[in-house]
Amino acid sequence: MTTGLNSPLRIRSTELANRIVIAPMGVGHCDNGAPDDDLRAFYRRRAENGVGLLITGATFIDHPTASNHVLLPSIAGQQAQDSWGRIVGDVHAAGAPILLQIEHAGTDRNPDFSLDPTARILGPSGVDQHGRAYGESMSPDDIDEIIAAFARSARTAEHLGFDGVEVHGAHGFLIDQFIWGKTNTRDDEYREPSRFAVEVIQAIRASTGPDFIVSFRWSQWKMHDFAAQVAKTPGELERVLRPIADAGVDLFHASTRRWWEPLFPGSPLTAAGWTKKITSMPTIAVGSVGTTGAVFHSVFQGRGAKATAPTGAVERMQQGEFDLIAAGRPLLGDSEWAVKALSDRFGEVRDFDAHALAELR
Ligand SMILES: Cc1cc2nc3c(=O)[nH]c(=O)nc-3n(C[C@H](O)[C@H](O)[C@H](O)COP(=O)(O)O)c2cc1C
Repeated sequence: MTTGLNSPLRIRSTELANRIVIAPMGVGHCDNGAPDDDLRAFYRRRAENGVGLLITGATFIDHPTASNHVLLPSIAGQQAQDSWGRIVGDVHAAGAPILLQIEHAGTDRNPDFSLDPTARILGPSGVDQHGRAYGESMSPDDIDEIIAAFARSARTAEHLGFDGVEVHGAHGFLIDQFIWGKTNTRDDEYREPSRFAVEVIQAIRASTGPDFIVSFRWSQWKMHDFAAQVAKTPGELERVLRPIADAGVDLFHASTRRWWEPLFPGSPLTAAGWTKKITSMPTIAVGSVGTTGAVFHSVFQGRGAKATAPTGAVERMQQGEFDLIAAGRPLLGDSEWAVKALSDRFGEVRDFDAHALAELR
């Protein structure tokens, strides 16, 4: 049998009914870090309509320095945990698994917009994504404390019933700031790009049970630099991803804005393709799957995108280059995108309209 969108996939003890993942998307609708009823219904509708694996939007770990936006979710505190517990209950009742994406924003943080404006601004080297001095370099105690907060947050997610976590190691936030040479100029052992991420994964593994899924999302591009690269060659990427895989990751998520672009010159392999080749782990491809034209950040300028069938991505998945495909905007705009994709009803998919972000249907 060939691998198609409808093929199941087992990760640890969790059975995914198909290969469609909803990409993590922070869409607001939170009160003091707690998802509101609209966000709860958003996830429920997607779970009821065929999504094989849900990944929540980035959720700040249980540490005052983690948040960079007051409207985005947190895992800290009873109110937020109660809300997440209800979401997990709904999603499981609909028969789908769900991972909590966990994040620390690092120096990508204006305290005035964050959940705790009094908290320090921490990063590997006290520089921002432009390489300018900003915030503080983390001391060894800070590093231990943040690693413990990642582990505590994953344990809380497990208590709430999440099937696992996705560790946000992409887009220029804290973990990625350790991976990327521009934001990591330390002169201790944490200068090694993968070291901090490895210790985060090991701590999560040590704090959670054997069924708990750990996904790791990485990217070349950063929120403030789309041309950035953490690895210029396959060898450099291997140096980053191999130790992270060995630390106990079950699933990788290679974040790009256009899934089909070759990652390095001289080979057609995509970011997801190289990730799978290097780690031998199940891997998610993402980035303009099911849309043409504008890439995802244009949503924030109010731009939509034309819908298209994700034929190329499905073919490359069938060839074994990667295992799952994630859709962001298609599933933001149409709660039934997955069920339409699974039954080859792409004619019924509407073009993506950026108003979907505000409407959250
Ligand atoms: C509104 C919005 C919010 C997003 N928030 C997150 C996030 O919280 N964490 C993350 O890793 N990526 C985030 N992304 C990126 C998506 O996960 C995805 O990689 C991107 O949208 C590309 O997929 P698409 O072209 O299908 O939209 C966000 C994207 C959008 C559109």
